[in-house]
Amino acid sequence: MSISIKNEREIDLMRTAGQLLAKVHYELGRELKEGMTTKDIDRLGEEIIRSFGCIPNFLNYNGYPASICVSVNDEVVHGIPTDDRYLQNGDIVSLDAGLIYKGYHSDAARTHGVGEISQEAQRLIDVTKQSFFEGIKYAKPGNHLVDIARGIQTYAEAAGFSVVRDLTGHGIGTSLHEDPEIPNFVRRRRGAKLQKGMTLAIEPMINEGTYDVWWLEDDWTVVTRDGKLAAHYENTIAITDDGCEILTMLPEEK
Ligand code: MF3
Ligand code: CO
Repeated sequence: MSISIKNEREIDLMRTAGQLLAKVHYELGRELKEGMTTKDIDRLGEEIIRSFGCIPNFLNYNGYPASICVSVNDEVVHGIPTDDRYLQNGDIVSLDAGLIYKGYHSDAARTHGVGEISQEAQRLIDVTKQSFFEGIKYAKPGNHLVDIARGIQTYAEAAGFSVVRDLTGHGIGTSLHEDPEIPNFVRRRRGAKLQKGMTLAIEPMINEGTYDVWWLEDDWTVVTRDGKLAAHYENTIAITDDGCEILTMLPEEK
């Protein structure tokens, strides 16, 4: 396993890749509404990414057929957009997107409610987002990956939710997926020691019920085993001298 360390010039390119992606999410969040299809969201996302002169990095990745992963309700991640899946009032929708800017990748996800959603669904969305922030409190040189995972898991489970085990975050840079794997739950190994210049995609996937998931026949869409809701929140971060910088958030989002 080898984790690439980026220099200032590379971090700067990744910062731009991240800020452009944050704009994509901002636009998608504004446009998302009842009656749209999941394919509408994908088309719009791809159009915005290309309007920035960037490349959608998910498109054709291991054969994935779209630019934006759109996962509704019990779909955890990697939902495939289609022309016949209409968003309905009360749905929750996870949008996962990424792009390449001058050879550098960014990757981020947000979960939105459509129209009026249940209190429990809103709590799941909020807890998932906050679990990311609880995790990255530990993202600094000298700590280990497990410290981030513990922060995420402790918070999500205290709220009564569960952390998906079968998928993880990952290093990111000149490839979408680089070493290391970044679980959102505590494993026996403490994982790599964090160092300045590492760039990581931290992406808690949090379920309302069991953490168990399975894959649909399309071999992409991950759904909860019990059919209850799931939410996803992700940012690309860079480890700095004394903490981390979130590359895929706009200053006004923070
Ligand atoms: N953010 C996701 C990940 O890191 C999406 C990439 S999978 C793709 O795994 F195939 F859809 F690109
Ligand atoms: Co990712």
